[in-house]
Amino acid sequence: LPSVLGNSEDNSKSVAVENCAGINWDELGFNPVPTDFMYVMKCAKGEKFSEGSLIPYGNIEISPFAVILNYGQGIFEGLKAYRTEDGCILLFRPEENAQRMKIGADRLCMPSPSIDQFVAAVKQTVLANKRWVPPPGKGSLYIRPLLMGTGASLNLSPAPEYTLLIYCSPVTNYHKGSLNLKVESKFYRAISGTGGTGGIKSVTNYAPVYAASIEAKASGFSDVLFLDSATGKNIEEVSACNVFVVKGNAICTPATNGAILPGITRKSIIEIALDMGYQVTERAISVEEMLDADEVFCTGTAVVVNSVSSVTYKETRTEYKTGPETLSQKLRKTLVGIQTGCIEDTKGWTV
Ligand code: COI
Repeated sequence: LPSVLGNSEDNSKSVAVENCAGINWDELGFNPVPTDFMYVMKCAKGEKFSEGSLIPYGNIEISPFAVILNYGQGIFEGLKAYRTEDGCILLFRPEENAQRMKIGADRLCMPSPSIDQFVAAVKQTVLANKRWVPPPGKGSLYIRPLLMGTGASLNLSPAPEYTLLIYCSPVTNYHKGSLNLKVESKFYRAISGTGGTGGIKSVTNYAPVYAASIEAKASGFSDVLFLDSATGKNIEEVSACNVFVVKGNAICTPATNGAILPGITRKSIIEIALDMGYQVTERAISVEEMLDADEVFCTGTAVVVNSVSSVTYKETRTEYKTGPETLSQKLRKTLVGIQTGCIEDTKGWTV
């Protein structure tokens, strides 16, 4: 490992991309590509995480009684490392992921790594896998920290042991092109209000979208837009991303009221848009208001910022502006510019 890790001070400036046998950087998608190492840190219930280590990437052994497998005691994060033109590797706001993991862990009664432990573990994982960070313009290294109740329990109680596992994969765009969405009126992503788990990255929030999105994709849609479960009148999220609506100079996005994931891209886009002089509001947005908008777009770590070309609600299709002149593409350019080191990071977002 030392030869892989080297000196962490110097390692942020690896000039050339080392050879990754068999990888065609032009053919990356958002698919699992195994890399060299993953990071593991364990802790017993009631204790604190202390020491973790890098181990070769591979399958893990887990008890059939593990609480994550049976009762879904698990949360995950997603963040990306980009290679800059001058050969540095940049992470984007990793401490925000650490904070969000802590909130999710508290909700599911799990211990969580400290912010420093999380960020250090992510850095080690990236450095150990630095040859898998794509060249500039070819994508990013997607990092997936997973916090799981790996201890065994048959009764419905928190696991006696927890594992933080961080693995990664080189990726490029999550979606191919802009999105044509269907408003979902049969299934909900999360229960409305503050009592549920829609606002954390619980593993249990994701498979429930399959039924709706598979049905929508079979009818030619890119994905579904979920509505709030209390009234069925307001827009909430797309399966894997937050949503924004633009009308004139005003941008709005559903408020993080417990059911909406507090996306780090969402938060960053709000800040960038405010800096550009737009008016940004976080509040409830009705379907009718969205249908009357000039532009709709989605944000997320995997998705980045993507325009919505159409929304279909009860058989009626509404089309929106797309293309390089849209506000969403302007915002995307600034965000990705900061993330990749092409635009000066005056906010201290990159590490
Ligand atoms: C991300 O954007 O990082 C996510 O976790 C969404 C996931 C469904 C790919």
